[in-house]
Amino acid sequence: MLVDKMANIMRSMFFTFIFAPWVLSASARQHYHGAHSRKDIQLNEDAYLESRFKRDVTTVTDSDYDSDSVFLPADAAEDTAPGTADDLPTCLLCVCLTGSVYCEEVVPDMTSVPALPKETAYLYARYNKIKKITAKDFEDIVTLRRIDLTGNLISEIEDGAFLKLTLLEDLSLAENQLVKLPMLPAKLISFNANHNHLKTKGVKANAFKKLTKIVNLFLAHNELEAVPQIPETVRILHLQNNNISSISDDTFCKGNNTYYIRPNMNEIRLDGNPVNLAQYPNSFTCLKSLPIGRYH
Ligand SMILES: *[C@@H]1O[C@H](CO)[C@@H](O)[C@H](O)[C@H]1NC(C)=O
Ligand SMILES: *[C@@H]1O[C@H](CO)[C@@H](O)[C@H](O)[C@H]1NC(C)=O
Repeated sequence: MLVDKMANIMRSMFFTFIFAPWVLSASARQHYHGAHSRKDIQLNEDAYLESRFKRDVTTVTDSDYDSDSVFLPADAAEDTAPGTADDLPTCLLCVCLTGSVYCEEVVPDMTSVPALPKETAYLYARYNKIKKITAKDFEDIVTLRRIDLTGNLISEIEDGAFLKLTLLEDLSLAENQLVKLPMLPAKLISFNANHNHLKTKGVKANAFKKLTKIVNLFLAHNELEAVPQIPETVRILHLQNNNISSISDDTFCKGNNTYYIRPNMNEIRLDGNPVNLAQYPNSFTCLKSLPIGRYH
């Protein structure tokens, strides 16, 4: 009896002091592991900058963590988590906390989006081998607020896969194999498609037009040759390391209206593109600061 009690105490201490903090710090550590090559270091810098900006400007916060609802395979028989996650195999491979699902670097390889518990709000499925997003994957999970699919092998996203997610504020498809973008849901605040193979014809000029809340738009390290239309709400625009060779007076400002200003825009990165920004002196008159890029 006493032994049982001690075991229970030990177990809850493990959840409270070791396991829960480990989960919370896992995302922070993710960015630092294996930072050996130049590319990794660049990735980490970008990730650092972006997470910093994200913290500044988005309102997304994870729901409260509750160590009592941690659900692990070893305890499946005795510790039944409240909620609906209990029967899903996803929660044997991944960690399901209230409202959050963590499936990072899952072994054996995870090649598609796992079935999600009802009412999942935050999905972290980074560094897996997911190849394709289907229209069914998120169909019934309209509660999603954040989806992070960074570092998978996604080359195809079916039409409308994200479109019904009217609460979705934060979507990362960074470090995948995309050549074109899917339709995006209207309430997005932060969208990250850095480090893909996006081509100009895969990112329609009006791809972001309907996003009335978008603040962070990360499209760096792709193959874009033109700047898409950027909504007024955007504060941070990353287009570095693309193949953009020219811009126009209408790219950021309004060529026919010299009084127009763009109050929200804080940062535009165009470095690592062939464009010589010095050739377009009238293209930045509406901005508070010049884009970062080449001026010679
Ligand atoms: C960059 O754009 C130019 C046209 O402006 C094109 O000829 C070239 O192939 C592109 N380079 C890459 C790597 O896509
Ligand atoms: C300026 O150009 C925009 C389209 O670029 C047009 O909708 C608007 O009517 C023009 N305004 C004037 C005053 O010409």
